[in-house]
Amino acid sequence: MTKGITPHGGRLINRILQGEERQEALEKSKGVKHIELTPWEISDLEMIAVGACSPLEGFMCKKDFEPVVDTMRLSNGLPWSLPVVLSAREGEAKSFKEGEYIALEDSTHTVLALLQLEEKYCYDKEKTALEVYGTLEDKHPGVKRLYESGEILLGGNISVVNRPKHIDFLKYRMDPSETRELFHKKGWKRVVGFQTRNPVHRAHEYIQKCALEVVDGLLLHPLVGETKGDDIPAHVRMRCYEVLLEKYYPKDRVVLSVFPASMRYAGPREAIFHALVRKNYGCTHFIVGRDHAGVGSYYGSFDAHYIFDEFEPEEIGIAPLFFDYTFYCKECFGMASYKTCPHDSSNHVSLSGTELRRQLSEGKIPPPSFTRTEIAQILSEYYHGEEAGGGESARGKTSRQSSIPKS
Ligand code: ADX
Repeated sequence: MTKGITPHGGRLINRILQGEERQEALEKSKGVKHIELTPWEISDLEMIAVGACSPLEGFMCKKDFEPVVDTMRLSNGLPWSLPVVLSAREGEAKSFKEGEYIALEDSTHTVLALLQLEEKYCYDKEKTALEVYGTLEDKHPGVKRLYESGEILLGGNISVVNRPKHIDFLKYRMDPSETRELFHKKGWKRVVGFQTRNPVHRAHEYIQKCALEVVDGLLLHPLVGETKGDDIPAHVRMRCYEVLLEKYYPKDRVVLSVFPASMRYAGPREAIFHALVRKNYGCTHFIVGRDHAGVGSYYGSFDAHYIFDEFEPEEIGIAPLFFDYTFYCKECFGMASYKTCPHDSSNHVSLSGTELRRQLSEGKIPPPSFTRTEIAQILSEYYHGEEAGGGESARGKTSRQSSIPKS
């Protein structure tokens, strides 16, 4: 029996084969056509397999893809805001026949799963871009990726024979069944989830702790799948969390675990997706702050709040906790938001990405009112090429990139 809050669609999906079934599928995979997945598709595959994307059991067929794009609902009426699809080039897809099995491989040609190809279909990339991302511009990282993907979508259920290999964050990797079990063991009935792709700063800490005041536990769930090139790599962000948790968070009230998804930058639609998926991980509440999952100026600061009004609360089934723009106020002498602070914005400390970059590149440490000194130190070391050393998160680190995020 699934512990805790009911998963989306009623049941936690598990598409990982074991024992004889796995052996049979492995045998079968030797005689079928193969296709190599991108890292993005591999993270989707893993999320489907472990139930993070419940009720999805595979990559979407047209009957789900189209209503998801048009109305943010699956064919059975359940809310679902983002396509989860597998694409192929026309030439490659030509040889695939509906009804047959296709082996899905990683870049080392290890077979990860069998796809039972239910349907292959064309789709309109521009329509999809406009509906899902709200723009046709390929400067948008999600749209760029969509334009680069194959012209044909392959839909059907998956059965995983080998889970994607990971060499990093091993002690922080937990499937939905495991986070649920952990929350149950801890006796947490009300758990708030926090999505993040940026290095933790004081505003993050403030909204996490405000939320924790009204629930039993906090799931810090940094995204470690693909992000755009100028986002800070996950191992640096995780190191920041390790240091912060050690000094500033109550150990018995917080779980740090990695979220294997890739970042879509779909703003409001991604906020719905992030909330539904965190429900599957066992969260009852979910934090949505300013410009959630946004990029550039594609979305209004609070579009990710308004989009929840398009659904009945019970169909979403996880309670969003909305936060206004949050900052340090010199007059309040503490963290506040536009909702709680009466003072003029000249008293507010919040650094733009450009300003943060400038300070770090000049060897300055950003003020503790913006980010804790320990975090600024880690970012400064990263920025100056000294890397965030030590800790579990440092294992398997990716190559360093030369910039820090815009926001
Ligand atoms: S996100 O792409 O994962 O949303 P980020 O890691 O920056 O980016 O944000 C994590 C969460 O904190 C999101 O819900 C976001 O809306 C919220 N957030 C970030 N900064 C602020 C802020 N200054 N005020 C209020 N909410 C914020």
